[in-house]
Amino acid sequence: MTSAPKKLFIKTYGCQMNVYDSERMAEAMGGEGYVQTDRAEDADMVLLNTCHIREKAAEKLYSDLGRLKALKLDNPNLKIGVTGCVAQAEGDEIIRRMPVVDLVVGPQSYHRLPAMERAVQAGGRVVDTDFPEEDKFDILAARSKAKRGPTAFLTVQEGCDKFCAFCVVPYTRGSEVSRPADRIVTEARGLVEAGVRDITLLGQNVNAYHGAEGGLAGLVGQLAAIDGLDRIRYTTSHPNDMDDALIAAHGNEPKLMPYLHLPVQSGSDKILKAMNRKHTAEQYLRLIERIRAARPDILLTSDFIVGFPGETDADFDATMALVEAVGYGAAYSFKYSARPGTPAAERAEVDAEVMDARLQTLQALITRQQRERQDAMVGQTTTVLFEKPGRNPGQWGGKSEHLHAVHAMSDEDLRGQIRKVRVTATAPNSLTAELIG
Ligand code: 5AD
Ligand code: SF4
Repeated sequence: MTSAPKKLFIKTYGCQMNVYDSERMAEAMGGEGYVQTDRAEDADMVLLNTCHIREKAAEKLYSDLGRLKALKLDNPNLKIGVTGCVAQAEGDEIIRRMPVVDLVVGPQSYHRLPAMERAVQAGGRVVDTDFPEEDKFDILAARSKAKRGPTAFLTVQEGCDKFCAFCVVPYTRGSEVSRPADRIVTEARGLVEAGVRDITLLGQNVNAYHGAEGGLAGLVGQLAAIDGLDRIRYTTSHPNDMDDALIAAHGNEPKLMPYLHLPVQSGSDKILKAMNRKHTAEQYLRLIERIRAARPDILLTSDFIVGFPGETDADFDATMALVEAVGYGAAYSFKYSARPGTPAAERAEVDAEVMDARLQTLQALITRQQRERQDAMVGQTTTVLFEKPGRNPGQWGGKSEHLHAVHAMSDEDLRGQIRKVRVTATAPNSLTAELIG
């Protein structure tokens, strides 16, 4: 008699790389006989794949662990693991503070999860926050061949050597490492065979990728040669790593989508310097001009931090002016959050109410720009990769080339199809369109 498979519940916080890592962890645990469940109550093991980027994100781990304590009382065999960037930053402390946790493993060593699971089943509590010599991707189980949806993430680069003064990433994810291009191409081929048509290449500093001749542009070229892979995107980029070849690729490579997330964080030169960003607002604006010269319709997005230590009203006004000058299709803005171990954490903080007010002002401008960009799409034709049925009968949802969420009506099963559409209307966060091809 074979026993029922053990069940694994993974909760993913934070960025897209965590989404990718969670998939790989689930595949690794598949080799240990685990199948995934979407209910923590049914699980034999729960993994919390955490984010450390801002204090609020990190705190979520502790409130979730509080809730899991009750589950463990009902099911003493339940094993609980903490993975991701909080695991890396607070490894031993988590084990010390939280008796409910059985294992802690950082983002660079989760290929060791199967061995750790066995140690835990034998009654141990284990922590692994190494930055190992070996490459986890070489050791992890081969990717599942199971049929999957039409979009996927693919990590090509990890870590960061930039040391922006506010950021924990260089500490939690380590220094910059690029995966070899041949492995990435093999993985991409496998994804395409499983039904993927749109791949987003991931890296904390993805355009610093140096695992292929010609850098990220070279890798994009190799991937574009894969039949059946129709759309390529990449995120997140640093302005100082936008080289000529990559800018040119936005003009020359039809599979490279007209969408670019290029965080600038602030529009004030004084603050950019204090952040250790190593470029000015003017240099960023000139860069945007060159990217738009290569691909005029490109949709640009950014991240902003308001209330960085030392930010005055005039500095904030400079950020507003930069946003006005660029015209973003969307952007994320955050209140500065002091992170332990980062240089900026030592500096005097801006008043909380001032931060709140600035965040609201900036978000109102960004929302207006997002609406303007969407409104400008009405009447235009574009293509949409449809992913799944919408909420209403006959409705399908997918993404445009510019990564707008799009809905269209059709009696056909549009899943996985790329279809020509005309945009007919906009809503706050999506477009409505009709099929025209
Ligand atoms: N406080 C607020 N926002 C931060 N980010 C990174 N670190 C911090 C911090 N300490 C933001 C940046 C980055 C995005 C991923 O998160 O804008 O681009
Ligand atoms: Fe963090 Fe990005 Fe700066 Fe690297 S470039 S330190 S990941 S904000």
